[in-house]
Amino acid sequence: MKSDNQKYKIKSLASNVGDFTVSLHYDRRLYKQDIAGSKAHVSMLAYKNIIEKEDAETILKALDDILYEIESDQFPWNSSLEDIHMNIESRLFDKVGTVAGKLHTARSRNDQVVLDMRMYLMQASKLTVNELKKFCLVILDLAEKNIDQIIPGYTHMQRAQPVLFSHHMMAYFEMFYRDIKRFQSVYESSDVMPLGSGALAGVTYPIDREYVADILGFSKISSNSMDSVSDRDFIIEYISSASISIMHISRLSEEIILWNSEEFSMIKLPLDYTTGSSMMPQKRNPDFAELSRGKSGRIYGSLISILTIMKSLPLTYNRDMQEDKEGFFDTYDTLIAVLSVFGDMLKGLKIDSSNMETPIEKGMLLATDIADYLVAKGLTFRDSYSIVSELSDFVVSSNKELKDITLSEFKEFSEFFSEDVKNITPSSSIESRNITGGTSTKMVSKAIANARKKLSELDDNEL
Ligand code: ARG
Repeated sequence: MKSDNQKYKIKSLASNVGDFTVSLHYDRRLYKQDIAGSKAHVSMLAYKNIIEKEDAETILKALDDILYEIESDQFPWNSSLEDIHMNIESRLFDKVGTVAGKLHTARSRNDQVVLDMRMYLMQASKLTVNELKKFCLVILDLAEKNIDQIIPGYTHMQRAQPVLFSHHMMAYFEMFYRDIKRFQSVYESSDVMPLGSGALAGVTYPIDREYVADILGFSKISSNSMDSVSDRDFIIEYISSASISIMHISRLSEEIILWNSEEFSMIKLPLDYTTGSSMMPQKRNPDFAELSRGKSGRIYGSLISILTIMKSLPLTYNRDMQEDKEGFFDTYDTLIAVLSVFGDMLKGLKIDSSNMETPIEKGMLLATDIADYLVAKGLTFRDSYSIVSELSDFVVSSNKELKDITLSEFKEFSEFFSEDVKNITPSSSIESRNITGGTSTKMVSKAIANARKKLSELDDNEL
């Protein structure tokens, strides 16, 4: 009996290298793309009279049967056939005999594998944009629901100035919106149809590459066959965009973990998004935020991995490139899972405003506002800065709060203080920052409205 490899005239490998070269366990995820790509290719071959129409019909029908077999779990996977491409082609031989040998006319596995990956990434980028969009909507709802909530804003992890919680959340909207733009650009980079590049130099048949691109939904075809079979930039772009996005997630996770701690007590996470400790019955741990923060490790790992795989590879295709897939699939799965779980967790987040007043009132979060007040009275900013700096030392060292300081105490620091200094409050501080990008309620509400508009326009353009 013929071995599977002999069936379509490929030389067998030494028995001990077999497993080493196998990628089937992860590249079988490309089955849909592989079959769609083969169908488009074979249709074009018939359209261009490179093969007979009847043969094309036979192959097309058998490819549909194979798709059905895979989706209904009846496909006889065979890892001795290395990868998804050879499994499908071999199954085609089982079904239609020697006619199957016509499918690979004017095609190489080198352009075939990159076609599959490009199609997969086009879809993955769209789905990632969708998940990011849903995530952004959760952020916007959270910002809107808590529009009046003032929190301490920090620099150097020191209380700095009061800000609206919604302003803080909108900072994250900006980050995730930039991520959306990056994944749209990954789509653009992936949207290049490589078939026709052959193994590396192009093919000798009068094929119609645009015809294939149209069927498969590509808007461009590749311009250089050598680049085409050896380019993995689009995968690197996906993983690097994912790295930036998971970095944003991990910053938000960190804040949520801190805010949820007893020391901050600023928020309460939904109970079903916290876990107990096996030993300490009182604990509710923010595991989902922690895990999301930790997932950045594996995505960065995949980025370093693909960059290292590609570094120094001579043109054109090298088998090293088979190693591009696991890191990408893992990155994609991880990012989608994190965005969806994290989004659901954020939906249930509650602000604990009872504890918020102390950190805002204590300390000198209004120091800049007081300095600005003195500037309005005619002092230079540097003079007023040094006056308020002394005032601040006094308030802190006498363990007082700013609102307890009397006018005569104020006047000891500067004659320019008068009764209206008492009008400086956390909310006056917030509302006075009424410039684009500032934290006033008006500006933040406007930012939320703009953000909703930008997200809805994404629908219209459909990437
Ligand atoms: N499994 C291979 C990969 O993922 C497919 C391409 C193989 N090409 C070749 N010339 N051996 O890269």
